[in-house]
Amino acid sequence: MHQGSILIVDDEPGIRELLGQILGDEGYETAEAASGEEALTLLERELYDLVLLDLWLPGIDGLEVLRRLREAGYQVPVIVISGHASGEQAVAAVREGARDFLEKPLSYDRVVLSVRNALDQARLERRVAEAAEGRVALTGSSPAIRELRRQVITAGASEGRVLISGPNGSGKEVVARMLHRHSGRAGGPFVAVNCAAIPSELIESELFGHLRGAFTGAVESKRGKFELADGGTLFLDEIGDMSLLTQAKVLRVLQEQRFTRLGGSREITVDVRVIAATNKDLEAEIEAGRFRQDLFFRLNVIPVRVPALAERLEDIPELVEEFVAEVAGSTGLRPKLFAPDALDRLREYGWPGNVRELRNVVERVMIMVPGETIHAADLAFLPADSGVAPPAGEVPRDLPLREARERFEREYIRQALERCGGNVTRAAARLGVERSHLHRKLRQLGLAPR
Ligand SMILES: Nc1ncnc2c1ncn2[C@@H]1O[C@H](COP(=O)(O)OP(=O)(O)OP(=O)(O)O)[C@@H](O)[C@H]1O
Ligand SMILES: [Mg+2]
Repeated sequence: MHQGSILIVDDEPGIRELLGQILGDEGYETAEAASGEEALTLLERELYDLVLLDLWLPGIDGLEVLRRLREAGYQVPVIVISGHASGEQAVAAVREGARDFLEKPLSYDRVVLSVRNALDQARLERRVAEAAEGRVALTGSSPAIRELRRQVITAGASEGRVLISGPNGSGKEVVARMLHRHSGRAGGPFVAVNCAAIPSELIESELFGHLRGAFTGAVESKRGKFELADGGTLFLDEIGDMSLLTQAKVLRVLQEQRFTRLGGSREITVDVRVIAATNKDLEAEIEAGRFRQDLFFRLNVIPVRVPALAERLEDIPELVEEFVAEVAGSTGLRPKLFAPDALDRLREYGWPGNVRELRNVVERVMIMVPGETIHAADLAFLPADSGVAPPAGEVPRDLPLREARERFEREYIRQALERCGGNVTRAAARLGVERSHLHRKLRQLGLAPR
């Protein structure tokens, strides 16, 4: 992980040299500018993590440089250096957004401390912004979710790349955040990129950053996500939507942990763990020539599959309870109780939109239903389960018919039972068989009723 790059702005060569030496010894990269004009030019061209700015400069003075930076929308933290003990100027600088001020003669310790604080502070602010973004825990106690949780905790602790697959809204991003949280990088940044949402012409600039003027529209230099994720985790979401060209570039970074910004020549080295996610069948994409196999192998070191909600219907009551509390907390709506018949109705539905859809349904009824308790009738808007295409699991193609039938039957019955919350009488009615017959079947198939 790189320590940070610092621009030193002072008209006295001796001071620039001294600061360059102090900061270099501490492991920072430094650049120097002898005037306000030069500083502004460099700041337009390069990206720095911090600026040390002398207030007394010939031409544009430090305060004016600071003002122009803020006006242009630069977020870079600035520490000002004041020549004489001029408290007033330092106060003005702090008002303009300077993080700290140093007085000449400069003390080694004071410089190092101030720089470290300013960089830590900036890092912390980014971290706080990230933490506000998403959940890092999976609700549910079904065998499927327990297994997933176990995998996430084990995989999280390793440094291995993880490829998360699963249908829409099933919780892939939650899993990615959780992997980060359970890794040695938890103190570092978690940066997400949605590869599907970014036009293919812009994705490289998004990932690698660019310098001002690198292409039409690049009016300002910008850091890429690989750089922002240094020391932490980069979450490449919807990885199946990257163009082949971008795939080649991403592959190169993964191999070398190095890249250059668009329009730049300096190689930037980063320490980033990549976690990728997709709802596509990447192996089919590879077959079709749309996804690079070598990239797939790089990313798929540890595959983690997030199950569809339909595979873990028994988690619905817990999820509902959680979402009711969340929605109540964030909107001020009164929490509502889902009656058993309502929960049954939820378990009967196919949930093509998975957990996200469930959360939306909970929010919708909390807003729309006036009573304290939600009943099945309040969920009439849910499409009836069509009965076609039962998600009865995949049966391998070359099984003998008898065995295939048995597998299908077991899975079909298991799911019917699950949808009825384990109630054999209701499941029998659903399947159109006698209760005693279903009991017999369950024993035969080794599916003990709960
Ligand atoms: N096990 C879970 N417990 C609680 N909330 C969950 C769980 N799984 C998903 N969620 C919630 O469901 C919503 C969808 O989850 P998420 O965004 O992680 O899904 P996704 O698989 O990334 O979806 P997409 O494929 O659409 O990108 C989010 O609001 C998330 O907080
Ligand atoms: Mg997602």
